[in-house]
Amino acid sequence: MKGIPMLDLYAEYLYMKDDIDNAIKKCLEHQKWILGPEVVEFERKLSKYFEVRNCIGVSSGTDALLLAIRALAIKKKGDEFWNTDDLVITTPFTFTATGDTIIRAGAMPLFVDIDPSTYNIDSKKIIRAIEEYRDKVVGIVPVHLYGLPCNMDEIMEIAKKFNVFVVEDTAQAFGSKWSNKKVGTIGDIGALSFFPSKNLGSFGDAGAVITNDDEISELVRMLRVHGGRDKYNVDYLGYKARLDTIQAAILLVKLKYIDEFNEKRRKIVQIYNESLKNIEEIVLPSIVDGHVYHQYTIRILDGRRDALKKHLSEKGIDSMVYYPLPLQKMKVFEGRSKIFEELKESEKASREVLSIPIEPLMKEEEVCKVIEAIKEFFK
Ligand SMILES: Cc1ncc(COP(=O)(O)O)c(C=O)c1O
Repeated sequence: MKGIPMLDLYAEYLYMKDDIDNAIKKCLEHQKWILGPEVVEFERKLSKYFEVRNCIGVSSGTDALLLAIRALAIKKKGDEFWNTDDLVITTPFTFTATGDTIIRAGAMPLFVDIDPSTYNIDSKKIIRAIEEYRDKVVGIVPVHLYGLPCNMDEIMEIAKKFNVFVVEDTAQAFGSKWSNKKVGTIGDIGALSFFPSKNLGSFGDAGAVITNDDEISELVRMLRVHGGRDKYNVDYLGYKARLDTIQAAILLVKLKYIDEFNEKRRKIVQIYNESLKNIEEIVLPSIVDGHVYHQYTIRILDGRRDALKKHLSEKGIDSMVYYPLPLQKMKVFEGRSKIFEELKESEKASREVLSIPIEPLMKEEEVCKVIEAIKEFFK
């Protein structure tokens, strides 16, 4: 049997090949590469999928976060950028972009530790952090890590009480739900990524901003194209951060399959959960309704995470550590961020987590091969 990759994007392409080939061919024929008809159509379909008033296609998940946080500075503060006295609470156990976009929007990240059972930011610690820093906190950027929804009831209650914004980093959680509401639609703004490996992935970089706030939507649309309603008469320091027509065309096809694919992920999870539950040295992902399992991430308790990774690799099975370094340990955040209390859980998680293959089109025999290899290691 061939090796088992984390994902098999070529198999996914073959699954919908005719549709994708036709969609690309249409673009070749109309040649409307910049904000072409597919972008408009994708924004419309995505608004419908999320049941939100506005969707703006942008060039990546990183840009979705950046434009969202910049638009909030303009709306809430009347300034183009936040400043370093403005603190934005987020998790350190995430991809760099969650933290660096806060800095690039002018503000300072305030890292608050995670709940070890979900790997998401700990709401109780958010409250304590806001109480300590009081008026300085202007917003919260929760991340639905691995596709597991954050407790948005608690986060929105805190945001309301302290009058701070919420930008949901929904990069890893397309279609994930909290209390039957799709994540990304609960806070002021949702930032989506269509990086190729995401649950809904394009064939390059792409992202989107979703919001029910029309003023924010208008500002994000401006920031996406240099910062003006008219690109020859500009108001704000903007970006060139449009969603490509060809990516929108591909995403329109893949959107039709996303719920089916998320369901396929859940079926694989059932097999993993059932087969791995008796291994004492590992902790399985928490079972939470609405989870879309962007990653299936286990925790290895006996200190042998890297040895397990090596063992799997020798068997031809890929695995990944998301993330080996929490953000507070990176040079880029030195002197540009604050830390609330200790971030022990994030540090511990970064030493113990391992994500194993979860490709929606994985065959059962491949899932079993991964399971056998893990069982053999702990025998
Ligand atoms: C949690 C998180 N936030 C933000 C991003 C940034 O998205 P992109 O790679 O599309 O810029 C990613 C993914 O790469 C991510 O996983």
